[in-house]
Amino acid sequence: MNTATFDIAVLISGSGSNLQALIDQQQGFGYRIVCVLSNKADAYGLVRAQQAHIATRIVDHKAYDSREAFEQAMIVAIDEFQPKLVVLAGFMRILTPLFISHYEQRLLNIHPSLLPKFKGTHTHEQAIAAGETEHGASVHWVIPELDSGRVIAQESVPILADDTAEVLAKRVLTVEHQLYPAVVAAIAQGKIRADDHSDPLTLSQLLHKVVS
Ligand code: GAR
Repeated sequence: MNTATFDIAVLISGSGSNLQALIDQQQGFGYRIVCVLSNKADAYGLVRAQQAHIATRIVDHKAYDSREAFEQAMIVAIDEFQPKLVVLAGFMRILTPLFISHYEQRLLNIHPSLLPKFKGTHTHEQAIAAGETEHGASVHWVIPELDSGRVIAQESVPILADDTAEVLAKRVLTVEHQLYPAVVAAIAQGKIRADDHSDPLTLSQLLHKVVS
């Protein structure tokens, strides 16, 4: 398999620190970001993409009457680039089966919790409020049920006694930035497939699988 041609599209809504990690590691890991799409015109991730000379597209959900019309416009924008994988990296819109089925087995998400714990938003607050001693991040295939697709890899971090949600979020992000590029690399290198049914990998198990 020629991994140099494994093209991916990345969807963002905000800061794009996961996008930056994917950009920084694409050369060594053998995938290529061909398009960054945002539903928000002021997402800082668009600046990161432009600085890396990656094509950008803005599809503003507020410009459409329905979720389906918004998603259809995203599909048209993404499919121009024929990506093998569509990577949600802090993309904060709930997707309907229209979009999800179009990219069946080609749609990944990163979620800031040890799924199946703490689906949805405010995961760091939820983990602290629940008295957890561990939290983390998970990369999973996307299915219509929110944050419920098969988990490919997850990594934990400790929750310390005086953690605020902000402090904890930063600790989780450092793990996200290692986990996501490695999962994309493993898929690009044919080491992980959508029809595998193995248990979630830790970061170190994942890094043993991928060739950099
Ligand atoms: C990340 O923590 C990501 O896991 C989370 O949003 C943040 C985006 O940060 N995603 C979700 O909560 C999706 N449900 P970034 O824009 O700096 O990559």
